[in-house]
Amino acid sequence: MKSIIVYYSRTGRTADVARSWAQRIGASRLEIIPMAWRSTFNEVMHYLYLTLTRKEMEIDLYKVDFEKYDRIVLMIPVICGMMSAPMRSFIKQEAGNLHNVEYVIIHKWMKIRHKSLIRWLDKTLGEKHLAASSIWVTMGKKYRPASIDGDSILKKA
Ligand SMILES: Cc1cc2nc3c(=O)[nH]c(=O)nc-3n(C[C@H](O)[C@H](O)[C@H](O)COP(=O)(O)O)c2cc1C
Repeated sequence: MKSIIVYYSRTGRTADVARSWAQRIGASRLEIIPMAWRSTFNEVMHYLYLTLTRKEMEIDLYKVDFEKYDRIVLMIPVICGMMSAPMRSFIKQEAGNLHNVEYVIIHKWMKIRHKSLIRWLDKTLGEKHLAASSIWVTMGKKYRPASIDGDSILKKA
């Protein structure tokens, strides 16, 4: 099965999870890069503002033929209960090209299933997900699956 993991990561935590799972299952990776200042106070404020107001964030251009993948895994960091702005923009931009999707939600504080986020994703992409899971990012380097539904890549450890 040919898979691609698409992710956004501000601090590198989600990138770390994406890298490790891509290696384990032999998947390709696509990192969403916002067109914004890097590692400055302004960047953080801009990111939080666009995430909380659900506004579009300009992201870097890329060219990927998603048709050639059997599964597209979207790794989504949650910020204040919301999907991070760059992932949201990517999903809205590419809705229609993303099929056979799996969601992996990256979170830290609460082990919840983010059902409304999953409903929004299905509705926006116009199809039901193959699997939806979440990874709880704890202190240190251990990333633990908090929930796994469906035939998730996280079962392939
Ligand atoms: C400002 C801020 C708000 C956050 N809000 C939540 C939240 O509401 N729920 C949650 O489970 N995790 C929350 N987190 C934790 C992030 O989901 C977690 O740190 C994740 O690793 C972020 O991905 P990244 O570091 O790769 O960008 C928050 C983190 C930050 C910095």
